[in-house]
Amino acid sequence: MLVLGIETSCDETGVALYSSEKGLVDHLYYTQVRTHVEYGGVVPEIASRDHIQKLSPLVQTLFERAKCDISQVDGVAYTAGPGLAGALLVGAAFARSFAFARSIPAVAIHHMEGHLLAPFLEAQQPNFPFLALLVSGGHTLIVKVSAIGDYQILGESLDDAAGEAFDKTARLMGLGYPGGPALAKLAEAGNPQAFKLPRPMLDREDFNFSFSGLKTAVAHLIQKNPEILISAKADLAASFQAAVIDTLIAKCARALKATGLKQLVVSGGVSANQYLRQQLDSQLEAIGAKAFYPRLEFCTDNGAMIAYAGYLRLKVGQARDLDFSVRARWGLDELKG
Ligand code: KG4
Ligand code: ZN
Repeated sequence: MLVLGIETSCDETGVALYSSEKGLVDHLYYTQVRTHVEYGGVVPEIASRDHIQKLSPLVQTLFERAKCDISQVDGVAYTAGPGLAGALLVGAAFARSFAFARSIPAVAIHHMEGHLLAPFLEAQQPNFPFLALLVSGGHTLIVKVSAIGDYQILGESLDDAAGEAFDKTARLMGLGYPGGPALAKLAEAGNPQAFKLPRPMLDREDFNFSFSGLKTAVAHLIQKNPEILISAKADLAASFQAAVIDTLIAKCARALKATGLKQLVVSGGVSANQYLRQQLDSQLEAIGAKAFYPRLEFCTDNGAMIAYAGYLRLKVGQARDLDFSVRARWGLDELKG
């Protein structure tokens, strides 16, 4: 079975071909970062228009590069939510039209399920059941994964998502957009203990997060001592990063202990963070647990994870009719296996 995957939920146009025999055949993505940079963040209407312009040529290049013909495709998977409604509609309309024209099934994929399954594109894979930490720009979730489609959300962010906290704090520090990777880069040269920042929600027994107070703490620090941004910018970045990551790891360790699980999948944009990976690997080793990550290019939004999720769903005959809708908001725990 050959599946075409389409991802257009935010500011990345991602396409991929996944084969049941060969695994991932090829993938391509186009990032709109340069388009949105002058606005300091993603402008939804511009994102939709850019997806319209880029998607079709990208799919054509994918087939050329992979030396495949569209007649070989057995199904199309597309991100149907959550995300920006207009951007999602571009991918959904393209995927549905492609499927209709070829008389093949199309399947709507939940974006966070795509992230959750991304580590299965790698050689080292977890076995079910496992715990997942999904850390992206829009979501921070701790999920108990018992099987494909059997997702129990144990904890989530009550305000800003982890990636959002990186982005907003980066903006406060004048690092522009996209802030997360820039802040992480700057943090490499800083001392994570230089500033004492709160580890939010650690005093609570649950597995939820709250990162907006941390961002406010950084804002207050800068307001009181603006010279920090000249004399100790890297230290501030490192201290902020450590506060977010310590909190993420502490809650995951607690959830692993509570569930008795020993495997942790970490995925979504923030899972590209090297400090997170180093800290997590050493702390999990100490408690006899292990983390599984996607390769760096599949941490952020991509078509490969959507093609793979689509393959799993099409394999068991899950495809909807030609009607489609996209969902800007969509709970991962509303999915079925
Ligand atoms: O999964 P993703 O590509 O898009 C969403 O589904 O939201 O995640 C993007 C998020 C952004 O907030 C970005 O700043 C963050 O992931 N991010 C990082 C790093 N790379 C991307 N945050 C911290 N460290 C990084 N290295
Ligand atoms: Zn994402």
